[in-house]
Amino acid sequence: MMRPMRPLAVLPSVLAADLAHMGEAVKDVMAGGGDLVHIDVMDGHFVPNISFGPDMVKAIRKVTDRPLDVHLMIAPVDCYIDAFAEAGSDLITIHPEAGPHLHRSLSRIRQLGRKAGVALNPATPVAAIEHVLDDIDLVLVMSVNPGFGGQAFISSSLEKLNLVRAMTAGRDIEIEVDGGITAETAGAVAAAGANWLVAGSAVFKGGSAAYAGNIAAIRKAAQRARGEMV
Ligand code: DX5
Ligand code: ZN
Repeated sequence: MMRPMRPLAVLPSVLAADLAHMGEAVKDVMAGGGDLVHIDVMDGHFVPNISFGPDMVKAIRKVTDRPLDVHLMIAPVDCYIDAFAEAGSDLITIHPEAGPHLHRSLSRIRQLGRKAGVALNPATPVAAIEHVLDDIDLVLVMSVNPGFGGQAFISSSLEKLNLVRAMTAGRDIEIEVDGGITAETAGAVAAAGANWLVAGSAVFKGGSAAYAGNIAAIRKAAQRARGEMV
């Protein structure tokens, strides 16, 4: 018998929100059907852009009850894990290149009572997670090079998703994909094994009146690819 698929989730990436109205944007996009809030943290060093710090996580924590999925694109990462946990992150995802001891960093995240994720850049091999499978709750397959919203989907991420699905089979691990996810790419990533779909531009385009329709279009494309009735 086939193992049941892990539940599907659509995660709006607030990097694409109207930053002058972050609180309203979060409330509106979650009311429009977002499942978890994806928060991209960039340091201008690990990636060539600067975005949010722990205070933004703390501020967003106040306007929604939904889980906060915090994606740390910062190096070194270890010295900031406690601050992001304290700020109210539910999940903290780190890149293996962002510190010398991935296992130690993941253990720290769990020790703080948060779920731990590892993000794989387009050129980072799946082998990076092979020896930490017992220590993670999520694998994030980057389908763009991290740093900016609105980039084109890199199709080699489909092969990587398949490899991650095989490597994590039977485990309680979410497979997340991030970058260039739209109603057009959602089906392919869902078919390749992603069950958490992060989307920035495709969710926030058109302003708050469009959020619900934008999210529904992504969700429906993924559901169709999963063979679920829509
Ligand atoms: C990229 C970020 C993404 C980004 C996705 O570094 O990790 O979460 O916001 O944006 P879109 O969906 O516009 O590609
Ligand atoms: Zn992200």
